[in-house]
Amino acid sequence: MPPLSFLLSLLALCALIGAQDICKPVSLFKHAHCPLPSRLLSSDHPIISLSRDHDRLQKDLEDTYRNGGQILKEYFYDHGNWDSVAQKSPQTDGDLDLLYQHMPHIVGKLESSSIIFELGPSTYMKKSRAILDALEATGFHYWYVLVEYNQDIISKIEELQKDYSRITFIVICGDFDQAFPIARELAHGRTAALISLGSTYTNAERNVLGNRFGTWGSIVSAMGVSQDLKAKEQADDWHKHYHSPEMMKFIFDAFKRADKIIGKTLFSDSIPLRCRHTPTSHAYRFRLNNGEIIEVFLSIKSNDAAILDPSIHKPMVFSEVLGAESTTMKLFIFDNPHVREE
Ligand SMILES: C[S@@+](CC[C@H](N)C(=O)[O-])C[C@H]1O[C@@H](n2cnc3c(N)ncnc32)[C@H](O)[C@@H]1O
Repeated sequence: MPPLSFLLSLLALCALIGAQDICKPVSLFKHAHCPLPSRLLSSDHPIISLSRDHDRLQKDLEDTYRNGGQILKEYFYDHGNWDSVAQKSPQTDGDLDLLYQHMPHIVGKLESSSIIFELGPSTYMKKSRAILDALEATGFHYWYVLVEYNQDIISKIEELQKDYSRITFIVICGDFDQAFPIARELAHGRTAALISLGSTYTNAERNVLGNRFGTWGSIVSAMGVSQDLKAKEQADDWHKHYHSPEMMKFIFDAFKRADKIIGKTLFSDSIPLRCRHTPTSHAYRFRLNNGEIIEVFLSIKSNDAAILDPSIHKPMVFSEVLGAESTTMKLFIFDNPHVREE
């Protein structure tokens, strides 16, 4: 029989955990120490907002202004209005065609999971809603976790929760790598799947992509990631999209936000230079008003050689690639039989 003092401390601990259940949104500073998942999963559609160091961001922007170099891509997406870019993007129409054409098959893959992570849904949500409609129609309950840098995702959750009564939403607002330890806890004891559209998950150098598969791949039994695989002769279309009015506005809006943070015109009057691009990458270059050159919004288009390389996508096993006539978008499907067996 345990001593009374032990039972009392256990009671106090339970009361403390219970009290934590009611506080949301949750601000996490060191996500690794957060007592997840029971606390989060017991509250309705929680929002996990990973901390950002605003002083550091301001200092980084000032350093980049002084010395040239790069501005972190996260900064562009942070509050950026991607919706107007997405609405005009051929990738959006392509992904939607592909999703609608293969939806029963895609949902068949996701269906056996109780928790689904969508990496980088943005705030436009048209593609996510296509998937959510199909999941809702299965009649089962799902946890649907949106992992997104863009803090405006938080304002979408009420609307989603109203429209999908069988799905419980969780938002992790932060970087994919930063969010992973939380995702692992959320997935613990559940069958999990991952979906990421619009060439988002695969927008990474080979080593980063390999790490990404290594982490997220270790907790999900199925994964569907879409990537635009335009042929070489279509490279001009691909490149043109980066210089569309919507994309340029997206970039300059971020420069205006940076100037507002610093309180001086450092970026918004910069002069566009010839961008740097290869068949699989693109970066904008600008000359600042002090003559320094900056390179921003680096984009990597992984090709099928990288995506299908087993040493990159391990521990996932490639299953199939889905496409549609109207588009160069492809959805790569992977399985992790090891996770499914557990
Ligand atoms: C190219 S957009 C695609 C949006 C949407 N999936 C679609 O298909 O239209 C990429 C989205 O992923 C988010 N994102 C990209 N990399 C991320 C990362 N490492 N961590 C968190 N969010 C990220 C961005 O904020 C942005 O909303």
